[in-house]
Amino acid sequence: MDNVAVKCEKIHKSFGEGALRFEVLHGVNLEVKRGELLMLVGPSGSGKTTLISIIAGILGYDAGECTIFGHNLNTLSDAEKTIFRGKNLGYVFQAFNLIPMLSNAENVSIPLLLNGVERLEALRQAKERLEQFGLGDKTNTYPKELSGGQQQRVAIARAVIHNPDLIVCDEPTSALDHENGTIVLKHLREIVTKENRALIVVTHDSRIFEFADRIVHMEDGVITETKENHNH
Ligand SMILES: Nc1ncnc2c1ncn2[C@@H]1O[C@H](COP(=O)(O)OP(=O)(O)O)[C@@H](O)[C@H]1O
Ligand SMILES: [Mg+2]
Repeated sequence: MDNVAVKCEKIHKSFGEGALRFEVLHGVNLEVKRGELLMLVGPSGSGKTTLISIIAGILGYDAGECTIFGHNLNTLSDAEKTIFRGKNLGYVFQAFNLIPMLSNAENVSIPLLLNGVERLEALRQAKERLEQFGLGDKTNTYPKELSGGQQQRVAIARAVIHNPDLIVCDEPTSALDHENGTIVLKHLREIVTKENRALIVVTHDSRIFEFADRIVHMEDGVITETKENHNH
């Protein structure tokens, strides 16, 4: 089995049209392997969210090539892309994107339902995940009744519930205190190491840097520095 999870080669991405067009990614190269936890850091506006949105197939790009497990999502139809993402990808949005009408456990169960898991079984697994994140007593309540940090943990539980081979998290500890940030990162670290999955975490949070295998710095749309961490 090929060990490469993500491969970005010379990715260019612009926003806007005509005179307002401006390029935000200027030829980004990035490779992430299975079993690797990669952190992407850099100032606000440097292109981190844009890059991981391209990797996840949420955004297209102008030049270069990006593949996940050897698949170029840009060459798939929308329907094929949805199926591929549903099976292989977990994504934690900066804004959490929980569905207000669904209970917390129902929110977490969505990826399983999309993959054809029966409802009661999906809810059982969702409750188990929520317990791992210290939210066992919140399964039947709704996102609006939770603190920001609790909502963030629900969003992370939803991103990992279907055991995707690639997990992408945008600032996953931004609303968490140190204790809960550590609980979440320990859990993600375990998923990466024991289950040989790949994880990309965009973060400003230096408290969690110790969990990374590699820290990649981005500035103004280019990768400026890479640091290896051999502690894992
Ligand atoms: N949908 C969009 N339309 C226009 N400009 C955008 C859009 N998304 C991001 N940008 C711009 O692209 C640049 C990089 O943004 P982003 O990837 O969100 O950076 P980061 O996540 O590192 O803060 C910023 O200048 C931002 O304003
Ligand atoms: Mg961002």
